[in-house]
Amino acid sequence: MSDLLHPTSGVEATLPEELEEEIRRLKKERNAVVLAHYYQESEVQDLADHVGDSLALARVAQQVESDVIVFCGVHFMAETAKILNPTRTVVVPDLAAGCSLADGCPPGEFKAFIDQHPDAVVVSYINTSAAVKALSDVICTSSNAVEIVRHYADRPVIFAPDRHLARWVSKQADRPDLIVWQGACIVHEQFNAKALTGLRVRHPDAEVLSHPECDEAVLEQSDFIGSTKKIIDRAIASPAKTLIIGTEDGVFHQILKHVPEKELIQVPGMDESCACNRCPYMRLNTLEKLYACLRDLKPEIELDEETRLAALAPLEKMLELS
Ligand code: 13P
Ligand code: SF4
Repeated sequence: MSDLLHPTSGVEATLPEELEEEIRRLKKERNAVVLAHYYQESEVQDLADHVGDSLALARVAQQVESDVIVFCGVHFMAETAKILNPTRTVVVPDLAAGCSLADGCPPGEFKAFIDQHPDAVVVSYINTSAAVKALSDVICTSSNAVEIVRHYADRPVIFAPDRHLARWVSKQADRPDLIVWQGACIVHEQFNAKALTGLRVRHPDAEVLSHPECDEAVLEQSDFIGSTKKIIDRAIASPAKTLIIGTEDGVFHQILKHVPEKELIQVPGMDESCACNRCPYMRLNTLEKLYACLRDLKPEIELDEETRLAALAPLEKMLELS
């Protein structure tokens, strides 16, 4: 490799193929498994041993027997892997890969919110910190949120922290009384419903597939609503030749692997001059940083045992119910 250093990872500048080869070699040497979310760069997805949505990756993480889990996703996903499989070393390419939903629900304020509703079951989205999970009765993802809320039909339910997912779940599960923490995802909230209306006029045969974190005005115009995995599966199975997609365009990679002939259009953002429809946290992970974290086995996810055990119980409850 040459002696030029990559500005953020400290990795010597090299050809992508060489880097990929080194990553494969280090995976074996470290006895590591690489897990990647669908919002990762295509080349990161292609190097992963498992690519999935947040529910599938949590299930895989729980079963991993290798010494090291390299989690190419955001912090709460890697933290969930550590909670479920504490004896593995869990590392992430970039520790700064957070999530606006998790960041917008601080545990102290959440505890005060819960204390106002002592009889309620606390259902928290997996997009939360371990400290917030530790305050919850059960966790959910966008794949199983409706199913989990339906399970508590006879109890008041707190649903946190995504207000758009909450609105969709409350309709699906016929629970208008959900007690909702008013958080939102900065990526999904900024999809432009007006621009989507224009796209539907220009592509009358297209099917619109959206993530439930989107605003109501986008979801009302969607033919299909589901998690990243469900969107990918529907896009592949749909008879429509053109698909308009209301989620991060990292999902395009897996869809196009199966149906390269389909036309995929992402719902535009409010401000088309920025790349706001890409998750800025997920996209912090790069091949160079993946290489560096396999080489150095850091940054590592660490958790105190008391918080881990308190967060484990609601995660296990989710896995039992879904
Ligand atoms: P999924 O559970 O659908 O993978 O979603 C995770 C996420 O962060 C969506 O923004
Ligand atoms: Fe969080 Fe939104 Fe990024 Fe998903 S897309 S990780 S919810 S900020």
